[in-house]
Amino acid sequence: MPGDGEAAVEVAGLVRRFGAVEAVRGIEFAVRPGEIFGFLGPNGAGKSTTINMLCTLLRPSAGAARVAGFDVVRERDEVRRNIGLVFQDPTLDGYLTGEQNLRFHAELYGVPRSALPERMRQVLEMVRLWDKRGDRVQTYSGGMKRRLEIARGLLHSPRVLFLDEPTVGLDPQTRASIWEYIRELRAAEQITIFMTTHYMDEAEYCDRIAIMDSGSIVALDTPEALKAGVGKDRVQIRTDDDQAAIAALAERFDLAATVAEGAVTFSVESGEAFVPRLFAELGMPIRSVSVSRPSLDDVFMSFTGTTIRDAEGSASDWMRMAMRGRR
Ligand SMILES: Nc1ncnc2c1ncn2[C@@H]1O[C@H](COP(=O)(O)OP(=O)(O)OP(=O)(O)O)[C@@H](O)[C@H]1O
Ligand SMILES: [Mg+2]
Repeated sequence: MPGDGEAAVEVAGLVRRFGAVEAVRGIEFAVRPGEIFGFLGPNGAGKSTTINMLCTLLRPSAGAARVAGFDVVRERDEVRRNIGLVFQDPTLDGYLTGEQNLRFHAELYGVPRSALPERMRQVLEMVRLWDKRGDRVQTYSGGMKRRLEIARGLLHSPRVLFLDEPTVGLDPQTRASIWEYIRELRAAEQITIFMTTHYMDEAEYCDRIAIMDSGSIVALDTPEALKAGVGKDRVQIRTDDDQAAIAALAERFDLAATVAEGAVTFSVESGEAFVPRLFAELGMPIRSVSVSRPSLDDVFMSFTGTTIRDAEGSASDWMRMAMRGRR
């Protein structure tokens, strides 16, 4: 579990330039073994460039990175043996069946023959493709292809799994089942997950999130701490006399409340801690109360100045609908 041992990923002063463009500008962070670590940022922030350096596919222009204890430049082969990778763009062979794609990968990674059938079944059932394993991948839907890639990334039981925008185009149930499995997997196998996403609801699955903007990490913390840093909780109460409630809030708690959405509304640092005091000290009946926290959208906005919707220009419409449904 997170907390002990050598870092699974350790990055110091990492830079990558493409000509005049500095895509990654000297970033620093460490990911603990067993952690689910997310990179969140708008288009062009440098997320894929960072992942590609960590996976040894791109050479850093400056700085250093270690993955599973190995240096990404000097110990490339060791790094590659210890990682699984799901790319942002699909990399399956459409002429092969799902099973053949996985077998090919197992050969490349030296998965023992004796272990393969069970592992294959395990990963294919996880992504609900066991029944489709004999079909050519070119007949799969986009979401099925994505699921097969995730199964493939897990097949050789890597120590660190890199997922670059892993669930783009998947239906909500599949996304949920994949995240459930990933969480089980990291508990059972001490796997470390490093992912990038545009999706706030996926960022919530992470133990910690780095928010990246224009090549730099602008914030790094747990989702809870990031949200707490952004602003106050919003409290709404319903009473029989809103004007009296507003006056009482001003008098007893020095709070400026207004009526919004049909309820007396105000902001406090910690809503949950405030509510018991409110009931005890307001001095008038409260019919109902609700507390809402700042969302990760608010966090994202406050650090990048970009709304998540703008940053999600590439997401499909139904995905946005699915996100709305979860809020
Ligand atoms: N091979 C390349 N050659 C030149 N410029 C590149 C190359 N790869 C990335 N860049 C530039 O580096 C910057 C960061 O790109 P990157 O793909 O890392 O962003 P990202 O955060 O993954 O974005 P997205 O959310 O759109 O996937 C962008 O300005 C991009 O144009
Ligand atoms: Mg990318």
